[in-house]
Amino acid sequence: MPGPARGLPATAPRSRGNVRVVAMTADDPAEIAKSYRSFARYEAHGRSPAYESLADAVAGDAALVRFVASLPPGKRQPNLLFSVARYLLGAPPGIEELRDLASRSRAEFTEVLLSRRTQTNEPARCAMLLPALAQLPPPLALIEVGASAGLTLLVDRYSYDYAGHRLAGRDPQAPTLRCAPSGPVPLPARLPEIVWRAGLDLNPLNVRDEDDVRWLSCLVWPGEGDREQRLAAALASARRDPPTVHRGDLLTDLPTLVTEAPAGATLVVYHSSVLAYVAPSERAGFIATVRDLGVVWLSNEAPGVVPGLPVTSARGEGMSVLARDGRTPLAHTDPHGAWLRWLS
Ligand SMILES: C[S@@+](CC[C@H](N)C(=O)[O-])C[C@H]1O[C@@H](n2cnc3c(N)ncnc32)[C@H](O)[C@@H]1O
Repeated sequence: MPGPARGLPATAPRSRGNVRVVAMTADDPAEIAKSYRSFARYEAHGRSPAYESLADAVAGDAALVRFVASLPPGKRQPNLLFSVARYLLGAPPGIEELRDLASRSRAEFTEVLLSRRTQTNEPARCAMLLPALAQLPPPLALIEVGASAGLTLLVDRYSYDYAGHRLAGRDPQAPTLRCAPSGPVPLPARLPEIVWRAGLDLNPLNVRDEDDVRWLSCLVWPGEGDREQRLAAALASARRDPPTVHRGDLLTDLPTLVTEAPAGATLVVYHSSVLAYVAPSERAGFIATVRDLGVVWLSNEAPGVVPGLPVTSARGEGMSVLARDGRTPLAHTDPHGAWLRWLS
């Protein structure tokens, strides 16, 4: 059985800096405070009351904002700050604990912030992809770029419940992904046949490594109880038969990986919540590459992240857009897989 994380044969670099993580480039403390308020209002609101008030509290704390400003731009996101604090403390932080970490344990806090990246792996995003995958000619071969630990590669292992439309997955012990559909969602009668799959990530997480698993669980926001259970069940399933995730950069290593896919299957390249971590100036290069490969390309990203894809929402916070080939929006999706609104 292949290990969960393998190097690509040719060009894949062993490691990359974190400069590609695009998040908060402004050094201006007022801008940093604003982005924490915006995280509270548009991302944490309605999902995690604890992180909503924590992000607001950080925005109002001059010393913490200065600490965040001292970090490299790609390391300033609330998500990463809070998850690293949780990793160090063993429990979700409050504002006092954050103040303490940033003052008394500044060196250790900074070191872990620099070494970790936001790699949230949400299996429920498979429920967003499944209707689009099931419409393609079978069998399928899958490549996920930005796969993290590979949990979103295991589309056929999970069971699904789309408000009563149920599908049984290959692993009866894997979680059931519950998703509220609306609009003309082409809900499939059965799961598609997947004959091959591989992931690509700058830093593949190993589902059999305790520390990586702990990091994945720290990335889940407090107050979203079902996410923690889903993650634990998906990880247990993945450990029994780990997905292969190669170390590599989606900007340079995708063509090599594509050559490993078997002939005779519909090859699908997809990604969810990944391109926001790639510099805007480099996204067009990825898109040109993926188009040249002659594959089916599915993206599930926040509005405005995929260049050239029509922005179908006025503000766009708190939702993603599932699209085919970077041209056709198929659905609006919940970033954590809870609902799916198919576009007519
Ligand atoms: C937020 S996670 C999303 C994981 C998974 N797609 C999901 O939906 O659960 C983003 C992942 O993209 C990876 N990533 C970011 N930039 C990348 C790049 N240039 N090449 C490959 N992977 C990248 C990160 O390491 C991280 O694991």
